[in-house]
Amino acid sequence: IADIKGGPDEGLDRVGQTLVAMGWVRTLRVQSSVTFLEVNDGSCLSNMQCVLSSDAEGYDQVESGLISTGASIWVQGTLVASQGAKQKVELKVDKVVLVGKSDPSYPIQKKRVSREFLRTKAHLRPRTNTFGAVARVRNALSYATHKFFQENGFVWISSPIITASDCEGAGEQFCVTTLIPSSREAADSPVNAIPNTKDGLIDWSQDFFGKPAFLTVSGQLNAETYATALSDVYTFGPTFRAENSNTSRHLAEFWMIEPELAFADLNDDMACATAYLQYVVRHVLDNCKEDMEFFNTWIEKGIISRLNDVAEKDFVQLTYTDAIELLLKAKKKFEFPVKWGCDLQSEHERYITEEAFNGCPDIKAFYMRQNDDGKTVAAMDLLVPRVGELIGGSQREERLEYLENRLDEMKLNKESFWWYLDLRRYGSVPHAGFGLGFERLVQFATGVENIRDAIPFPRTPGSAEF
Ligand code: 4AD
Ligand code: MG
Repeated sequence: IADIKGGPDEGLDRVGQTLVAMGWVRTLRVQSSVTFLEVNDGSCLSNMQCVLSSDAEGYDQVESGLISTGASIWVQGTLVASQGAKQKVELKVDKVVLVGKSDPSYPIQKKRVSREFLRTKAHLRPRTNTFGAVARVRNALSYATHKFFQENGFVWISSPIITASDCEGAGEQFCVTTLIPSSREAADSPVNAIPNTKDGLIDWSQDFFGKPAFLTVSGQLNAETYATALSDVYTFGPTFRAENSNTSRHLAEFWMIEPELAFADLNDDMACATAYLQYVVRHVLDNCKEDMEFFNTWIEKGIISRLNDVAEKDFVQLTYTDAIELLLKAKKKFEFPVKWGCDLQSEHERYITEEAFNGCPDIKAFYMRQNDDGKTVAAMDLLVPRVGELIGGSQREERLEYLENRLDEMKLNKESFWWYLDLRRYGSVPHAGFGLGFERLVQFATGVENIRDAIPFPRTPGSAEF
């Protein structure tokens, strides 16, 4: 359908051609002499309006109700100019074939259904306008991400999902455990298996073939090993955080894009983050016009012009100290009090991005490079309205002694970082990078309020069903 309607004339150039469409019936209107079927195949937001009169082959299946909302069908007909206001062309059907009928209990009927309800129907929600559009924009953002980095000479690195290190040092990791069969029969059925135990207790931490292992919270440390060999690299893959938070911006499983630049400092890092964000936003505005119009009308009014600003205007740069000063001067009362040294909360980020600028770092991880003042680090966050923190990045501590001291100071186990310290022992270079939460980018680009609607199958406390 996109192939036909996506042309410059929205299909008018193909009037007279015999065409076939395959898709799912969105709506069905029976009138005295003709029946209108709106068919969608997911290639674009638009449906193909299919017009059937009683002489069309297979019409009896419409008449008997076999072809109903949700059914999959195959139609063949002639493309004609449409009298309707909503589309330029429609298909005058010669033949319709029911591919798979839809039970009357089909839950996605024409009336508008809430996004909360659709979260309980994660297997069917891609058949709605909103989730179809989100899926296509998410795809476009992912394509543009690879395109940006590839065009700029970055090498894509696959970082591991199972790891022993905790990059952020926040202890928000999921453990990996091995299932052992509880009985002989269970050996054939992993569903009946139980976790490895020690003295009758589940031994969560010793379970990757006898060693502790976790799901990664970030691919950064692995990216650093490749950056200090191949120069500019990036990762793009799933990461996991065991934070038990139920917010509209946190997932237990999310995708992260993590570039790492060698021979680079914090300014290079910020320039890269800006160029990247502007590139992917521009790509979506140029390539997902129909979906963006839909979001602009139904999800977040004015999103197109806001994204245009992002793609074109300079970003405000604010030091941590200036951000704190700004918050201290704010007339607003915050739930979390502000003072120099504190971690910015989302209410503070929201104030900065939505009130102070119509348009902060968190407590510092061990790997961030210490500034000459001895108390701050070379780190940055990129905050955007509505979503808050979209990117967190920093220049990395490339000096061996500084890094060792920092690990000691934070009571982290230096031995386990032997390989990371080696990078500072052999040909260390100044380097910097950042991590962008992909679902937050999808939220920002589509306007969906809840991060659960920015990923096909959200993983949050209590939801891993689909
Ligand atoms: O700020 P974070 O924790 O930084 C890191 O992980 C660094 N190692 C990145 C780097 O420098 N290579 O996470 C980076 C971004 C955040 O800005 C946010 O967009 C996203 O990841 N993020 C989450 N997104 C969804 N759900 C969560 N629970 C998230 N936690 C972080
Ligand atoms: Mg952060």
